[in-house]
Amino acid sequence: MTGRNSGVWWVLDLSNRHWWIIGVVLLLAAAAGVGVPIALKISSSASFEERLEFATRLLQEVPLIDGHNDLPWNIRKFLHNKLKNFKFNEDLRKMSPWSTSAWSHTDLVRLEQGHVAAQFWAAYVPCDSQYKDAVQLTLEQIDVIRRLTEQYHPRLTLCTSSEDIRGAYKRHQLCSLIGVEGGHSLAGSLAVLRTLYHVGVRYLTLTSTCNTPWADCSLADMPGKKAEHGGLTNFGKSVIKEMNRIGMIVDLSHVSVNTMKDALEVSKAPVIFSHSSAHALCNSTRNVPDDTLRKLALNKGVIMINFYSLFLTCKETSTIADAVAHINHIREVAGVDSVGLGAGYDGINFVPQGLEDVSTYPTLFAELIGTGKWSVDDLKKLAGMNFLRVFQEAERVRDEFKRANVPPYEDVMPKQKENNCSSQSN
Ligand SMILES: *[C@@H]1O[C@H](CO)[C@@H](O)[C@H](O)[C@H]1NC(C)=O
Ligand SMILES: *[C@@H]1O[C@H](CO)[C@@H](O)[C@H](O)[C@H]1NC(C)=O
Repeated sequence: MTGRNSGVWWVLDLSNRHWWIIGVVLLLAAAAGVGVPIALKISSSASFEERLEFATRLLQEVPLIDGHNDLPWNIRKFLHNKLKNFKFNEDLRKMSPWSTSAWSHTDLVRLEQGHVAAQFWAAYVPCDSQYKDAVQLTLEQIDVIRRLTEQYHPRLTLCTSSEDIRGAYKRHQLCSLIGVEGGHSLAGSLAVLRTLYHVGVRYLTLTSTCNTPWADCSLADMPGKKAEHGGLTNFGKSVIKEMNRIGMIVDLSHVSVNTMKDALEVSKAPVIFSHSSAHALCNSTRNVPDDTLRKLALNKGVIMINFYSLFLTCKETSTIADAVAHINHIREVAGVDSVGLGAGYDGINFVPQGLEDVSTYPTLFAELIGTGKWSVDDLKKLAGMNFLRVFQEAERVRDEFKRANVPPYEDVMPKQKENNCSSQSN
């Protein structure tokens, strides 16, 4: 397939009788080796097969970037991070224990079928490691992501910049990106934050399912629950500033609404929600309310939609139409520049009918085309261009801090919870 950058002559516009003339002209130009501008068009009333084929074409023109996949945690649970016998390039649906797990949706074969160009892998460690060995476990999860990427190089390649994503896409390599899911992985230390950046981490989710000593998680928004901090503490605000300074993207999935608000106020760079959906359609505290979506639009950030049934319908069952409804709702409220994809595969156990695993992204695009609301440019923004813009902005803000010679923040977390694993006093 020559497809991505040149030689694309294929024009499908059912309403245009002269499509074949354009096709021939472009084909001749392509044959002559002339770079041809992409002219993809399709009618929303095209058959599903035509829309699916079109979606596949589209994803050869634009990198599909997914914000969140929990495979690394499954590798830890199932294989104790031993990759020796892990056959990532085979169909894991045929291999125990993956074949019988409701939490397994990812392998290299299906990622390629799904035209995934860049995947953020979650370096997630559970909240019960907070105040214990969270930092060590996080480093082990980063290590397993990097080793997996190395083992399947060149099909997989580690990416740590927006430029890396573009380059890998051109070379038809799948980018591995690393996100740390939960501020407890910092153990209250900006030094740990900086070091995570150095080993390749490019987003930090401020909390997982527990409060940190500096930020409330979304459990604070459960009926009858009280917030511990009411959002970000002063130290929490310093965490955001240091993230801006070093170029670490701020991820607001999992945090409380007040933490979202505080972070949106402090951050000089656009933020992401790496795997959240719309609260207006399902009132899970993991979803984002409309007024926050409007603030996200002002921040020029992006919300990468989660496919978990419990976040789409608030039930264990859902369909692809429910995912489309969330995407369309968020587009209506926050605008087409703020939508993206962060399915959450391998970290969810109820998936929508039609979006069963990482191979199904093209189907989602075929469905969106069928709604008649999405231009080719819009679809490209959803697929990856919005996230790429956010990533580039975070890099630009980092470079600005550097030009201004802003030194590293040296704030310390006031008083850590009592524990028995510190050998030094603050
Ligand atoms: C969601 O809405 C239902 C029905 O109004 C309510 O009972 C439930 O407590 C709400 N859940 C949350 C997390 O707000
Ligand atoms: C730390 O160890 C001491 C002495 O063994 C014990 O009394 C205390 O409860 C421990 N503290 C915590 C937070 O585990």
